[in-house]
Amino acid sequence: MDLELAGKTAVVTGGSKGIGLAVVRLLVAEGVRVVAASRRETPELKETGAVHVPVDLTTAEGATELIERATAELGAIDILVNNVGVGDTDDIAKGALLSLLELPDSAWQHTFDLHFYSALRVTRAALPSLVDRKGTVVNVSSIAARLAGAGPVDYNVSKAALNALTKIVAEQFGPQGVRAITISPGPVSTGVWTDPDGLIGRLAAENGVPHEEMVTQFLDNLGTTTGRVSTPEEVARLIVFAASPSNINGAEYVIDGGIIKSV
Ligand SMILES: NC(=O)c1ccc[n+]([C@@H]2O[C@H](COP(=O)([O-])OP(=O)(O)OC[C@H]3O[C@@H](n4cnc5c(N)ncnc54)[C@H](OP(=O)(O)O)[C@@H]3O)[C@@H](O)[C@H]2O)c1
Repeated sequence: MDLELAGKTAVVTGGSKGIGLAVVRLLVAEGVRVVAASRRETPELKETGAVHVPVDLTTAEGATELIERATAELGAIDILVNNVGVGDTDDIAKGALLSLLELPDSAWQHTFDLHFYSALRVTRAALPSLVDRKGTVVNVSSIAARLAGAGPVDYNVSKAALNALTKIVAEQFGPQGVRAITISPGPVSTGVWTDPDGLIGRLAAENGVPHEEMVTQFLDNLGTTTGRVSTPEEVARLIVFAASPSNINGAEYVIDGGIIKSV
């Protein structure tokens, strides 16, 4: 199937590893010119040939700098993938382990800066170009938005806000040809799940349980019916499909191995 992406341009936030890196690889393979943002460049990102912009996307300046550099590099932006997230394990772990009474404003602020305000600010900065090119915004959310009470609560709420942002962009800018789509993965085999220092690895160590057993426990508790986590490549395929030309706007696509049971 021709995704009609050849010759287009894209910005991918959090493109140095995990899901973002898989998206960069697929877009480049489709003939898209890509700018990828993260704090550090990785050898794997360098190999793709994408242009790396080193920015901290928890800051307003980081968002502005990214779009200025991307516009200078690409001329205009057809596709924006707001993927940045997860960040440092300590931050995510806090939201999972502390109660509402214990989790300070600073943690909520940081989580919202990384997962919500980064997307808002980068989208706002890119919108003139996206309107000009009738472009597409893909927001990488999480099924956590629908499971608000389980796990890192600040993360869950920030993802629910991100889902709402997709709808707002779709509604306000759809008439000008800009589409916005939410992709909501369940567990994905990136560092969060696989690294000994990732969230699951840390919880396993704290509970004295082998890492693999902790993963299985989580998948069972979450109600995964396929019995496995998704791969970054599987999620990237859905993101790249969402970014390809179509009449889809404001929709959410879940890729979670059957965790979400509601119709
Ligand atoms: N993995 C899962 O199970 C899962 C499930 C559902 C949803 N998601 C969502 O999918 C997205 C990607 O997750 P992932 O698992 O692929 O994460 P990951 O492997 O940890 O990659 C995160 C990316 O974001 C960058 N990043 C982190 N903090 C940053 C900051 N302050 N400024 C700029 N870049 C920053 C990282 O590079 P640097 O560290 O060098 O900055 C990296 O490129 C996130 O939005 C996450 O919430 C993941």
